[in-house]
Amino acid sequence: MLEFKHNEGWAITIATDHRTVSALVADVIAEQVAATPNIVWSLPTGSTPIPLFDILAARAAREEIDFRNVVFFSLDDYLGLHPSDPNSLSGWLQREFLNRVNVQPANVHLIPADDPIPGEAARHYDADLTRCGGFDLVVLGIGENGHIAFNEPGSEASTRTRVVEMTPETREQAAGYWNDQFRMPGQAMTIGMANILEARQIVLLVTGSVKATVLAEALTGDISHHVPASILRLAGARLHIFADASAASQLNLN
Ligand code: PGA
Repeated sequence: MLEFKHNEGWAITIATDHRTVSALVADVIAEQVAATPNIVWSLPTGSTPIPLFDILAARAAREEIDFRNVVFFSLDDYLGLHPSDPNSLSGWLQREFLNRVNVQPANVHLIPADDPIPGEAARHYDADLTRCGGFDLVVLGIGENGHIAFNEPGSEASTRTRVVEMTPETREQAAGYWNDQFRMPGQAMTIGMANILEARQIVLLVTGSVKATVLAEALTGDISHHVPASILRLAGARLHIFADASAASQLNLN
């Protein structure tokens, strides 16, 4: 395991493989939940967090982590989908994580991507998150194009919860998960970069060689809306990146 602290304040921990790095992120979550049982937090969707979900569910089953009082806000979903839709990211999060642990349904806020007036619903969701004090801990994945949640390239640091257009690259990356690609919407609802930057702790989990180029760009290139993940560096010491060796293979840190 390698730990590196950058002079911008953020830290990166590199571990051998996906499982090992996921266990380290599970440790961070367990520590935070133990310290503040009612933390406001979030988890990403995608293939990256699946081992993390398994580790957290196993630890919860052994009563090593108690999620009873945590407050959960989801990050993003495809526009127009209800959580009961088999392609909904909120529904997927419920099946893959939330329903496997003792998170209380009353403490779960799912982004209202199926609301008939999405712009207004997004603003209300943002206000709810603010009312709850904002994120204590936000755990994120990164897209191959540098997106964070559905904050695609072009998303500024000031963005908040809103409806966005998905890029062709993101739609292609997402297509692998869809049961019926023909119904894939072109838009999504996502929390914004500002919601994330306001978090007291930001964890970015990055695994696999397919993410090596974008991780290097995000951490060693300019801080720019062209690579939304690079904007996370503005959080300084509140940002901790956890990468496996494959994802970190193109990093040249100094
Ligand atoms: P992935 O998605 O974990 O499936 O690579 C990550 C993301 O796009 O945020």
